[in-house]
Amino acid sequence: MIENTLILIKPDGVQRGLIGEIINRFEKVGLKIIGMKMIWIDKEFARKHYKEHVEKAFYPGLEAMITEGPVISMVLEGVDAVELTRKIVGSTEPKNATPGTIRGDYAHISYGHADEKGIGIKNLVHASATKEESKEEIKLWFKENEMYDYKNVNEIHIR
Ligand code: CDP
Ligand code: MG
Repeated sequence: MIENTLILIKPDGVQRGLIGEIINRFEKVGLKIIGMKMIWIDKEFARKHYKEHVEKAFYPGLEAMITEGPVISMVLEGVDAVELTRKIVGSTEPKNATPGTIRGDYAHISYGHADEKGIGIKNLVHASATKEESKEEIKLWFKENEMYDYKNVNEIHIR
């Protein structure tokens, strides 16, 4: 099933100069970028995006991290795009993320270390976790006229 999903390159990914490398991972599998922009979100917006986490103990660290610099936000389209992008991104905790995933290849921090230091887990990327979450998040981050309908060559292979 063709789905759309929201991907963010978080401030740590932007600051580390990994924008191109991260986008490349998604383009290589044939996902289509239908929307993309750079935006520096404030705390109010962060609370909307991470509404499921606002009450959690790690939220202050997460909020500080996601608002510390600009992010790249993208809407990607493809077959089972939500599940596929989560696989490409890897597990939340970089220490446990499989090599070959973005988080497994470019980070190694653990929950234990982050908790001890009282900091958020810098794991480079956000990807919507479910279809419902993807719909809500795309609506939050993108206006209808910021997403584009066009054909790319990969579509020839999945028709
Ligand atoms: O991003 P993902 O959906 O994999 O994980 P999440 O459970 O929805 O958590 C959102 C983000 O909060 C994570 O990607 C981490 O950056 C951060 N986090 C954290 O800093 N400390 C934790 N103990 C758990 C999550
Ligand atoms: Mg999540």
